[in-house]
Amino acid sequence: MNKTRRYRRMTLLLAIALCPISQALAQTASSPATTLPAPIHLTAEQDHQRTMELLSITTLRPGRSGKPDAPNAANYDESKANPVPDLPDPLILDNGKRVTSAKVWWNQRRPQIVELFDREIYGRVPKDTPKVRWEVTATKHTTNGDIPITTKTLIGHVDNSSYPLITVDIQLELTTPDNVTGPVPVMMEFGFIGPFPRRPGAPAPPPPPPGPTWQQQVLAKSWGYAVIVPGSIQADNGAGLTEGIIGLCNKGQPRKLDDWGALRAWAWGASRALDYFETDKAVNAKQVGVEGHSRYGKATLVTMAYDQRFAIAYVSSSGEGGAKLNRRDWGEIVENVAAINEYHWMAGNFLKYAGPLQWKDLPIDSHELIALCAPRPVFIGAGATNGDGWVDAKGMFMAAADASPVYTLLGKKGLDATTFPPIETPLIGGDLSFRQHGGGHTPAPNWPTFITFASRYFKSPPSTKPSSAGAN
Ligand code: GCU
Repeated sequence: MNKTRRYRRMTLLLAIALCPISQALAQTASSPATTLPAPIHLTAEQDHQRTMELLSITTLRPGRSGKPDAPNAANYDESKANPVPDLPDPLILDNGKRVTSAKVWWNQRRPQIVELFDREIYGRVPKDTPKVRWEVTATKHTTNGDIPITTKTLIGHVDNSSYPLITVDIQLELTTPDNVTGPVPVMMEFGFIGPFPRRPGAPAPPPPPPGPTWQQQVLAKSWGYAVIVPGSIQADNGAGLTEGIIGLCNKGQPRKLDDWGALRAWAWGASRALDYFETDKAVNAKQVGVEGHSRYGKATLVTMAYDQRFAIAYVSSSGEGGAKLNRRDWGEIVENVAAINEYHWMAGNFLKYAGPLQWKDLPIDSHELIALCAPRPVFIGAGATNGDGWVDAKGMFMAAADASPVYTLLGKKGLDATTFPPIETPLIGGDLSFRQHGGGHTPAPNWPTFITFASRYFKSPPSTKPSSAGAN
């Protein structure tokens, strides 16, 4: 055992040894909790190591660096990117038979794909998750641009009666335009508090493009918008896996190998927000879209794939762990997501594919996650290679193209191209759509194209007052 491993093992043993102490503390602090296990606190390093030990893995292959001069720099050479990967066919059943009807897709093939994503990639949501009670904590009447709006601040109190040592309060904000009659479509964003987290060495985020914000663009259609805060559902780190909704469901104990990771936890929170929208008369809950960028782009795709009530998705720069094919060697790779700073997004089982297994051993790939969204419309966006190369726009385009046969089977039109388009070419003729904008790692430049695409599906409610923003 080398020094680092010995140190890690000692820290782990120490944590376990200290357990009775924290248990005692928890029991004194809260008498109803006397029969409950004390929450375990591990660092991300300890939990990552614990996961490897459960998998009997001693080493993982390292990820790539975003720094071009690093010895393990990410690949940006198309000839080395495995451009024609041998992908599993979403329309072949486990028994080798081809799926030729929508019925077989819904009843047999789709559940097979879901099971693989649950077990190997994103983890399973527990069968019984606690109820959420939504409370409107504030209502404000203001304007955005020249549109009068109502903004509700909400908290989703997650029932923690089964384990009162963990509290989860989901933060959500809903804004609807006042100058319309009837319930409105809503676009919900997985939102950051503060700026997007940046990978080390990444350039500063590009300034927002001039013109209306995404919220103003949405209001101009007489739609509403919402922001849900992922960190209020589940922390964005491995140390938090015994807290948040995952920790609450596990009574403060570490995850099993097929337990859910943060992406599914965030998606679960988005579904609870949709439960609330179904009860709010200002919202047309049949027309709720979801949008997110980068790690929240991944969460957006997972949300759309798993909850068929969401009507449309804008998946921005989701990259590895999102829409990018795992079998592509371009920018970020499987090994990065299996590492200490990102593994918490996924199920523990995902680590296997960064050692000893290979990418080709994955029983599924991201085109099948996109296929789970069918027949509902999905827009996949990214920025230019210079600034957003890490997310592999082409790998995401290829995944959308390979998901398209499922849309066709269900009577819809997939991506309306099979060759990668020049930058800034919107491909919005099908129900799967794609555009690579000319900017960096930002969702902003693709919003107008996404709204044009979404306008085919979401109708604006009748206006009560004419507005210069031109709702139609
Ligand atoms: C890192 C990470 C990406 C992620 C991004 C973000 O760059 O490697 O997978 O999408 O952070 O969320 O900003």
